[in-house]
Amino acid sequence: MASYYPEELINEIIMANDLVDVIAGYVQLKKAGRSYKGLCPFHNEKTPSFTVSQEKQLYHCFGCGEGGSVIQFIEKIENLDFVETIQFLAQRAGIQLPEGNEKADDSAFYAKKKKMLEMYRHTARFYVDILYGEAGKPGRDYLVQRGLDVKTAKHFGLGYAPDKFDECVRFLKGKGYDEALIEEAGLARQGKNGKYYDFFRGRLMVPIIDIRGNVIAFGGRILDDGQPKYLNSPDTPIFNKNKTLFAFNFAKRYCSEQIIVAEGYMDVIALHRAGFQNAVATLGTAITSNHVGMLARYTKEVVLCYDSDDAGRKATERALELLQRVNIRTKVLHVTDAKDPDEFIKKKGAQGFARLLGKSENSMMYQVGELKKQYDLGNLEEKIEFLNELAKLFAKVSNPIEREILVREAAAESGVSEDAIFAQIRENQYNIEKNRNNEIERAKNRQLVQNRVQHKDIQTELYEGMLANLICTDKQVYLAMRERAETDFFKTPAAHNFMQKVYQQWDSGQVPDMPLILGQMEAEQAREISVAASRELPYADNVKAAEDIFQTIEGRRKNAQAAQIGSAEELDKLLKSLKK
Ligand code: CTP
Ligand code: MN
Repeated sequence: MASYYPEELINEIIMANDLVDVIAGYVQLKKAGRSYKGLCPFHNEKTPSFTVSQEKQLYHCFGCGEGGSVIQFIEKIENLDFVETIQFLAQRAGIQLPEGNEKADDSAFYAKKKKMLEMYRHTARFYVDILYGEAGKPGRDYLVQRGLDVKTAKHFGLGYAPDKFDECVRFLKGKGYDEALIEEAGLARQGKNGKYYDFFRGRLMVPIIDIRGNVIAFGGRILDDGQPKYLNSPDTPIFNKNKTLFAFNFAKRYCSEQIIVAEGYMDVIALHRAGFQNAVATLGTAITSNHVGMLARYTKEVVLCYDSDDAGRKATERALELLQRVNIRTKVLHVTDAKDPDEFIKKKGAQGFARLLGKSENSMMYQVGELKKQYDLGNLEEKIEFLNELAKLFAKVSNPIEREILVREAAAESGVSEDAIFAQIRENQYNIEKNRNNEIERAKNRQLVQNRVQHKDIQTELYEGMLANLICTDKQVYLAMRERAETDFFKTPAAHNFMQKVYQQWDSGQVPDMPLILGQMEAEQAREISVAASRELPYADNVKAAEDIFQTIEGRRKNAQAAQIGSAEELDKLLKSLKK
């Protein structure tokens, strides 16, 4: 990607953000020899296979294959694109970025996003001004009706969208935005007569704010019981509802121990007002794996606090399923005597809610309770069925102590021996394991077939990456290889691109900066190089190692035909294994 900021500046930003330092903010790292180790934040694991090299300023996970420099790490973990990552890291290091120095072509997309963010800021301001102005009476009355004070309304930046045809559109046009962009930003619609009208009309406006404090969307509450009750901004270049949590901009500071996940905007607003500032909500969708990833990075414990109706129970079930996969402690809070937390707090106050929170149930206990409700335990057959289902549930518990306690309780309650329940659990664990292994096997075969079809030789790719890494990091190797291993010697796109930059820098008398070069490459290619770079080589002498790798690559190329194309039967067999 051609860069939006000057290279020297990107370089300065990378240098100012030590990778070990940055990662330590997300992963508990332990020193192991010359590098650091920890549990990979990108996949679920129990033994650390995530390594960070301070010297090389690279990370790599041997479990899931993720890897790269500080740029790729932040892109991936914060869900940001390249330019946003640069901004994030600049801010982290206290480096001032120049405004408006984008280059015309490749920055069109970023320029648009920037414009949309600006537009949202103006719009949020517009709705707030309306709420407290002459036309805002219906909105203010609604706040009173819901028992919301002005202080809370201001804290959340609530506003009011006037019930007019195109007042917001005209306001934004007056600020110089064109109609097409206003529509693309989800703030206007085009009618049949070609005229643009306001997307939000006659609604209490709740701004959705991202972690960096930008307004990126709105939720609009109708003031009576018309439909739809809430209207939400559509997904746009600046907003993806599957990756956004309402009020996370506030909650992120209060949630390191525990986060409360509720269903609605009003629940969260009521919770914050009652002092539970660690509350967030999804945006009219079920919780997604993106949300779960965010939660897992910021907190130790999730308390699900959904409505006390059927929809709430279903949503709880789905959320537990996803949360179990990341090994995050999860509890379920039961809202009693009210339909949702907002209503509950109105009735019982903050202390009442604190009591509920204290009584929230461990997720496994919750699931056992839910399961129990589905069976008539007086009936022998149903009881057996129930115990079988219970064993399936317990098989997913990874902590043996927790499992033992659960089994003891279940045995005492059902009159079935602990041994019988354990036996059933083992059977289920065996099945889970078997399915997982089959899945891994199938994934491996899929990869093999893909490589064959694309005539890729993974091993040679790896060797090319290793050689490139040696040339990049050791001047002696560069001197020994410069003439023989030209840029064009490297056939894989990743190594080729990488070496072009490496040679450029060495040739002009600079020492190549690997994280900088990787930071400017496409994530997938950077990953390939960093995987190769993290291989330990059994050589004391880098020049000797490079020589051997060079010879090996040449040798493999001579036998390319044989190395690349396996027999037709073999490929056939692989293909068959993929069809389950
Ligand atoms: N929601 C939505 N669209 C709707 C209804 C609901 O996007 N038509 C989302 C909103 O994010 C809302 C959440 O689902 O906050 C929960 O819905 P619900 O329980 O119906 O709303 P409440 O939060 O109880 O809203 P209120 O208290 O204002 O009635
Ligand atoms: Mn409600």
